[in-house]
Amino acid sequence: MSKRVVTLAHYYTQPEIQQMADKVGDSLELSLYAKEANADIIVFAGVRFMAETAKILNPQAEVILPDAGSTCSLVTQTDVGALKAWRQRHPDHVHVSYINSSAEHKALSDWIVTSRNVDDIIAHLYAEGKKVIFSPDRNMGGYLNDQYGYDMPLWSAVCEVHDKFNEAALDEAFAAATGEKYLIAHPESPLPVLKKADYVGSTSGMLGWVKNFKGDSKSVIFVATEDGILYNMGLARPDLDLRQAPIYAGCQCNSCPYMKMNTIEAVKRAQAGEGLRIDYLTPEQMDAARVPIERMLDFSQRYYA
Ligand code: 13P
Ligand code: SF4
Repeated sequence: MSKRVVTLAHYYTQPEIQQMADKVGDSLELSLYAKEANADIIVFAGVRFMAETAKILNPQAEVILPDAGSTCSLVTQTDVGALKAWRQRHPDHVHVSYINSSAEHKALSDWIVTSRNVDDIIAHLYAEGKKVIFSPDRNMGGYLNDQYGYDMPLWSAVCEVHDKFNEAALDEAFAAATGEKYLIAHPESPLPVLKKADYVGSTSGMLGWVKNFKGDSKSVIFVATEDGILYNMGLARPDLDLRQAPIYAGCQCNSCPYMKMNTIEAVKRAQAGEGLRIDYLTPEQMDAARVPIERMLDFSQRYYA
C-alpha cells in the first residue's frame, strides 16, 4: 500500500515550492495542520525547528526536512547550556520561548509562542501577576517590553534576515516613493523599524492586513519581512504596490538562506522518502517539549476560536 505523504510549506519558500504543498501557512497554522495530519510522511518545506515541532505533535508520522542545512539563526545563536543557566537564575519567572527554538530549548520552557499569539499570551501571563523571561529573540522581546511597558529579561539572539532591516534604508525608500506610504513589519525586525510600522505581526497577520487594505490603491506598501510572502500578497492583492523593505539602497533582496534550501529537487526527493528524518529526538525529549507547545495550542484554540 502506498504511503500517505503530506507536504507543508512556509510562506517564505519559493512560489514553486508553495505550489507543491498541501498546506501553506505561518508557524502556528503549520503546527496545527501537522498535529492533525493523517499522514505516514510529513515533508516539511520550512526549517528544522518547524519539522521538529511537527514530529513532536505527530510522533506517529515520519517527518522529513528536505535539506539538513535548513536551520535558523535564532537556534544556532542559542547555546542550550547557557540558556539553562540563565533560566536557573530566574527561578520565580515563567519562561516564554518563541517557537523558533530547538526541541531541547522548548523542553526548558513553560510556554511556546509564535509571532501570531505572543502578544496575547504574554498579556495573559502579566494579567495573572506572573513575571516573565523571554527567549531567544531579543528584537521581539524588546518590542514587547517597549510596546507594553514590560520588564522581561531577554535572551539575546536575532533572526539574521529580519535584523538587517534598518531605519536609514527605510527613510530613503520612503522619501523616494510618492503618494501615501505604509510599512508593515514582522516582530523579528529591530525596534526602530517596528516603531515606524503601521502594523506589526506574523506572516499571516501581515497577509491579512494586505488583503483587507482599504486605502488608496496607489499607495506604496513596504513590507519588512522575508521576500517569499510578497508572492502570496501579490496573489491576494494584485492591485497594490507592494515592495519589500530595502536593507540598503537598491536592495529589495532580503531572503532567508535556510528557507531557500527547499529547492524543487530537494522537496521531490523528500516526498520519495529522502532527506533529514526527524528521528533523533528521544520520547522523553519530545514529551518535555510537547508540554509548552500544547499549552500554546490550547490557548490559541480557546482565544482565537
Ligand atoms: P511566522 O510564525 O510569522 O510564520 O514566522 C516564522 C519565521 O521564521 C519568521 O522569520
Ligand atoms: Fe530563522 Fe529568520 Fe529564517 Fe525565519 S527568516 S527561519 S527567523 S533565519
